[in-house]
Amino acid sequence: MGIRISDKCRGISPSATLRLNALVAEKRAQGQDVISMAAGEPDMDTPEAIKAAAIRALEEGKTKYTATAGIPALRQAIADALNKHHGLAYAPSEVMVSSGAKQALIGCLTAVLNPGDEVLLPSPCWLSYPELIRMADGVPVLVETTVGTGYVPDTKSLQAKLTGKTRAVLINSPNNPTGAVYNRAELEEIAAFAKTHDLAIISDEIYDAFVYEGVCHVSVASLSEDAKNRTVIVNGFSKSFAMTGWRLGYAAGPKGLIAAMDAYQSHAAGNPNSLAQYAGLAALEDSHMAQGIVAAFAARRKRLLAGLEGIPGTRFFPPQGAFYVLLDVSGLIGKSYQGQDIADEMVFAELLLEHQGVSVVPGGPFFAPGTCRLSYAVSEARIDEAIRRLKAFVSQIAG
Ligand SMILES: Cc1ncc(COP(=O)(O)O)c(C=O)c1O
Repeated sequence: MGIRISDKCRGISPSATLRLNALVAEKRAQGQDVISMAAGEPDMDTPEAIKAAAIRALEEGKTKYTATAGIPALRQAIADALNKHHGLAYAPSEVMVSSGAKQALIGCLTAVLNPGDEVLLPSPCWLSYPELIRMADGVPVLVETTVGTGYVPDTKSLQAKLTGKTRAVLINSPNNPTGAVYNRAELEEIAAFAKTHDLAIISDEIYDAFVYEGVCHVSVASLSEDAKNRTVIVNGFSKSFAMTGWRLGYAAGPKGLIAAMDAYQSHAAGNPNSLAQYAGLAALEDSHMAQGIVAAFAARRKRLLAGLEGIPGTRFFPPQGAFYVLLDVSGLIGKSYQGQDIADEMVFAELLLEHQGVSVVPGGPFFAPGTCRLSYAVSEARIDEAIRRLKAFVSQIAG
């Protein structure tokens, strides 16, 4: 008899990609060359100036507890950045630093939801959202979007899922996994819907720097005073500054809500890592660092999209942001590879890994059946090789 696990924790799904990750590790241990297009993080190192700031902070003994919501200089720098990029005026007291965007999301959901409250969640979506909502005692309500509408929800689709318990809408633009970037008109529609039904808007903008070919990232909070007052922006340093391991994120929103999140965080986690906060401060001081990272991704995106063009049985929605392509492989499902049935996208991903050493994430956990997510957080040379292998794999699919 061990310790009984709570219903809440037993209900949390472990990552659906664990089996594939184990297969990747096994193949690499056998010395096989696996190209991973599964990663949700930039492959490059954190820029030197950011690392130097952390080293300096360490040497200066900045190793004690800080204010739970973050050092004042960083809260101010985040407020300044939001002002510079979106014309949004936040006071430092309306900004909270967190241990990654994830920590800000769980704090925000906990501060907004009472048990049983529903959150409208456009899908396909990042697989952690439904779990985070449930962990905060809320109920995720998927609002399906399709490639036909550019994976953006409209009023009709939101309205169809609205009930008396709907409390918030959670949006993510640029989007993981679709790469969709909501434009101003689309965001205005969402903001108007939220105003009509008095909903909070939780806006995860972690991929804000990753937009391509002249597309702009618009923050929903910047649309009007009403939109600002009902929105919590969640963002972080993980993607834009190649800082996934540092665990540094933030939220910006109405003062009362940020204070509630601060109270929650003070017990649940305490302050984010002090050295990471000084590193984050250095990151915000030089926007060229993020630009360098994004420029590399822009070139990779171009290369990958050109390579994916015209592979039989597949198609894709051209992503405008983030660093993923959702490849629709439904045209290959039901066929066979060397006598093995491709029953679904999971089998497709397993066979591709097994026979060609390319790892992709099946779309099921993102509520995108019939697709696989390809991350282009790999070099252009590896992208070329991955395309070659993918074509070789598909050319042997029959039926
Ligand atoms: C949409 C989205 N939000 C948030 C996160 C988590 O970011 P962080 O590393 O800051 O916790 C991720 C990470 O993959 C993500 O894809």
